[in-house]
Formats: sequence, C-alpha cells, structure tokens
Amino acid sequence: MTKTTIQLKLNGIQRRVDVEPNDVLVDVLRDKLGVKSPKVGCDRGDCGTCTVFLNGRTVRSCLVLAVEADGGEVMTLEGISQNGPTKLQKSFVERSSFQCGFCAPGMVLSATELLQNNPHPRRAEIQEALAGNLCRCTGYSPIIEAIEAVCKK
Ligand code: FES
Ligand code: FES
Repeated sequence: MTKTTIQLKLNGIQRRVDVEPNDVLVDVLRDKLGVKSPKVGCDRGDCGTCTVFLNGRTVRSCLVLAVEADGGEVMTLEGISQNGPTKLQKSFVERSSFQCGFCAPGMVLSATELLQNNPHPRRAEIQEALAGNLCRCTGYSPIIEAIEAVCKK
C-alpha cells in the first residue's frame, strides 16, 4: 500500500508521520509517535482503553484511521498532564482508584471530558459518561467516588 504523510498537533506539538492508509490512530500514536498512554485492549471499540481527544472530543483511537486525524489535534493523557497531575488525577491517586491501571488513561480522559461539559454531574451522569470504559479490577466505585470528590472541591 502507498504510504502517505499526515500532520497533526499532538499534545501541543506539530508532528508529521508516514502512515499506511489502513493504520489506526492508536497504533500510530504508540508505535510511530512514542505516545504510550493509549492502550490496545479489545481493538474493536468496546473497552475504551485507547481513548484520546481528537479535535476536542474523545474517540476510540482503535476505530479511527490515522489519516482521519490529518490536520487535526490529538490530546492524550501525556498532554493533559504535561504541567503536572490535574485535580482529577490527584483525586484518583488519593482514593487509590486504580489497581493494574490499564484502564486509567482512558478513564481519566473520559472523566475529563465529562467535567469540561458538566462540572457537577450526578452519579448517573458519571456512570453514563464512563459506560464505554471498562475496568476489570476495581468495581468502578473508587473511580466514581474520585470524580464526585473533585466536583465537591
Ligand atoms: S482498544 Fe479501542 S475500544 Fe478497546
Ligand atoms: S484498574 Fe485494572 S482495568 Fe481498571
């Protein structure tokens, strides 16, 4: 297949990268651009571990072709915490919200998007916002409680 060069702003820095037409964004981020926080869990849009912001909205980057991000802006966990952990991240740490941590980058980004759009969500709204992010370890309660705690501060 013919490679093509795409440009994107990744965590605030303009980047160029050669991609195949069928490369998905998560693979390009991890393997060609060195951004490791998005994880490949299911590789079919079910688990949310590959969540990133694309042009201001969260997407499952295993379902997005890299060429679709050409000219766009991608923000990952590395980007949102480049000036240190956010209040939300600190709240997760204070409550030991994660165990293995595999789901954490996607959870943090989905929760970040929720609080950007709705700074004081009800529990049901938090649950709905995280419905696409699966966690095998925690039972979700410490994750939800950390989000509620940061809303109260
Ligand atoms: S790896 Fe993308 S949703 Fe699971
Ligand atoms: S902490 Fe292990 S999958 Fe969520």
